[in-house]
Amino acid sequence: MPFPRLPRLVDAALDRLVVPGYSKLGYLARSAGWPALAPDALAGRTIAVTGASSGLGTATAVGLAGLGAAVELVVRDRKRGEATREEILAAHPQARVTVARCDLSDLADVRRYALDARDRLLALHGLVHNAGVLPAERVETPQGHELCLATHVLAPFLLTRELLPLLRAGSPPDRPGTPARVVFVSSGGMYTASLRTDDPEYTEGRYSGGAAYARTKRMQVVLAELLADDLAAAGVVVHSMHPGWADTPGVADSLPGFHRLTGPLLRTAEQGADTAVWLQAAVEPGHCSGLFWHDRAPRPTHYLFGEETAAERAALWTLCVDATHDAEAR
Ligand SMILES: NC(=O)c1ccc[n+]([C@@H]2O[C@H](COP(=O)([O-])OP(=O)(O)OC[C@H]3O[C@@H](n4cnc5c(N)ncnc54)[C@H](OP(=O)(O)O)[C@@H]3O)[C@@H](O)[C@H]2O)c1
Repeated sequence: MPFPRLPRLVDAALDRLVVPGYSKLGYLARSAGWPALAPDALAGRTIAVTGASSGLGTATAVGLAGLGAAVELVVRDRKRGEATREEILAAHPQARVTVARCDLSDLADVRRYALDARDRLLALHGLVHNAGVLPAERVETPQGHELCLATHVLAPFLLTRELLPLLRAGSPPDRPGTPARVVFVSSGGMYTASLRTDDPEYTEGRYSGGAAYARTKRMQVVLAELLADDLAAAGVVVHSMHPGWADTPGVADSLPGFHRLTGPLLRTAEQGADTAVWLQAAVEPGHCSGLFWHDRAPRPTHYLFGEETAAERAALWTLCVDATHDAEAR
């Protein structure tokens, strides 16, 4: 018999207190009441996961394959991608897994990959924008963009738009309730940042990788809302989520102090990836769009800062359109 769901007030309190909610304690308390997903919930669906060669991306890909999805691993290092493919096949021998190389910090490479994907695939039923970075210093990409902005915001915008024909094909109008789903893996760190469209490339003041990360994770949440509106007519839904705090190579390498301090409390990668997998597989998120999720529930998008203005939101859209030269989205 499943455990009862956590009362809403207790769940919200966990969220606001941060440590209990984001750590594995929050996951364990909430997940006890979750109904199981059908083992074939994603049969017949093809889902691409970026940054699939490590941490949450690998766990997401394993989880999706375990529910029957064909998974496209979008990775910057083919060897690491092949190793992930082997890992998935070891857990799910029947899984269909492809590896595709793409450096998301390079917009030209994103275009090249999208073209290749449109050549190879018939449809895409899901896209998980998981790849992420937390740089120690300000780095510029081949197109001259700050690395976090390019990887977390510009590449997902461009990739979503370039893969739109496949996502459309994955959202047949005669099957309402099964739209293609785009999911942004943001971060609870986004609560610490407002939408900074005044200095998106982080050229003013002393650069902090942590601040650049949080700013662009905030942008992801707003961008998911904007894309949700933009893609509604195409039948595609768009959500963002945050995984809580999970033990991954990224956290160990980029935040060694935090990793040491929180070690025993960190979620496993699988627990951190759970909501990204659920957003692709469950019924409920197929019937709404533009929400921000954590542990299978929609969450507020603002605690510390007020909502961004319509002008600021429009500025983010213009930034993405201009940086990617997307004439159709103007
Ligand atoms: N772990 C957490 O507690 C936590 C909390 C909040 C949010 N997140 C978010 O979760 C996502 C995954 O993080 P993680 O903790 O699993 O970190 P991770 O272990 O460092 O994994 C990040 C993945 O992104 C890939 N990547 C980075 N830059 C790329 C690029 N330019 N092109 C293609 N792939 C690129 C990496 O590729 P390589 O394998 O080649 O390095 C790696 O596979 C990130 O978006 C992160 O912001 C994580």
